[in-house]
Amino acid sequence: MKVYLDNAATTMTDPGVAKAMQPYLTQEFGNASSLHQFGREASGALDQARVAIAKKINAEPEEIIFTSGGTESDNLAIRGVAYANKNKGNHIITSTIEHPAVLNTCKQLEKEGFKISYLKVDKRGFIDFEQLKKEITDKTILVSIIHANNEIGTIQEIETIANICKEKKIVFHSDAVQSFTKVHIDVKKTKIDLISFSAHKIHGPNGIGALYLRKGTKIKKQLEGGSQEFNLRAGTEYVAGAVGFAKAVELVEDKHYSYVKQLRDQLIKGLEEIPNCQLNGPRGDSRVCNNANIIFNFIEGEAMLLRLDMKGIAVSTGSACSQRDLKPSHVLTAIGLKAAVAHGSIRFTLSRFNTTEEIDYTIKTVKEVVKALREISPLRRGYNG
Ligand SMILES: Cc1ncc(COP(=O)(O)O)c(C=O)c1O
Repeated sequence: MKVYLDNAATTMTDPGVAKAMQPYLTQEFGNASSLHQFGREASGALDQARVAIAKKINAEPEEIIFTSGGTESDNLAIRGVAYANKNKGNHIITSTIEHPAVLNTCKQLEKEGFKISYLKVDKRGFIDFEQLKKEITDKTILVSIIHANNEIGTIQEIETIANICKEKKIVFHSDAVQSFTKVHIDVKKTKIDLISFSAHKIHGPNGIGALYLRKGTKIKKQLEGGSQEFNLRAGTEYVAGAVGFAKAVELVEDKHYSYVKQLRDQLIKGLEEIPNCQLNGPRGDSRVCNNANIIFNFIEGEAMLLRLDMKGIAVSTGSACSQRDLKPSHVLTAIGLKAAVAHGSIRFTLSRFNTTEEIDYTIKTVKEVVKALREISPLRRGYNG
């Protein structure tokens, strides 16, 4: 059996998405800026895609800027706000559990003279609102907090963060790459100014994402060139990608949420029968519906990943971006885990294409693999379970 449980890294393109994109890769291949018929058709398709994505978050179409993915959206949001507000201040607040697309962008800005405060999180990965309030100064120009964490699935209360920022008139950005279409966001109700999205995490194509930019929020464009995307993101638009992204959004149904959540809880319940393991991140509705991150004590996550791979099960240790990096995940250390313990963590991320049978097979296989690895583990000294 082949079981794909690495959907936080990327997802299978939905066949409906591939079908919707196909005409825009062949017959309707025009450049959306061209004035002829081919161009007009492309630009019409782009407009429709923008409308569909805007609708999902109750935004206006002009508030959606297409980008190449989550990384670019995060860069455009953070650098864009930082450079546009240099005259107002140089202080940015973020958290210690952001994706590298946010963390490394902030570190780069730090080298350029910006001051960055990194909010600590508790054991389950939540920021402290009082701490956030305390960090705000009259030089603070931006708060950027991840919505659903890509490793441990913690969903931050963005309404509360948005209200704190609004009261202090500070721009608020959230990276919603892992939560988009899984947790409902209504930008008319929640006063977030910028939100990052990526299509390949929701069964859309790779190479396209979007940034929601609330009307009136000032940013500086980061790519020089043509005047595409309201003069905020230069470059010929990826029309087929935008069409696929919109289709991916349209294909999400409410029932998918409860279905995936039920599979997640089945998996967590089954795996927790294994002695000496622990769930990282919160339980229930403050955990994104498709994430289970578990530490199996006395074994190395990499050894486990390879054994599971041999049995047809795809999972990850830490996050895919830090896979070649032997340092323990910054998210797991931020929630207080020691490096040696963090190395035993496995992230299982599900999708609507998984089945109950696959989850049963995964539970059974993980139990066997953990047992086999613990029998030969040097980390096991003193443990007889
Ligand atoms: C939370 C988060 N932000 C940003 C990204 C980057 O998105 P992309 O791969 O579309 O550049 C990822 C990808 O793993 C992510 O999980």
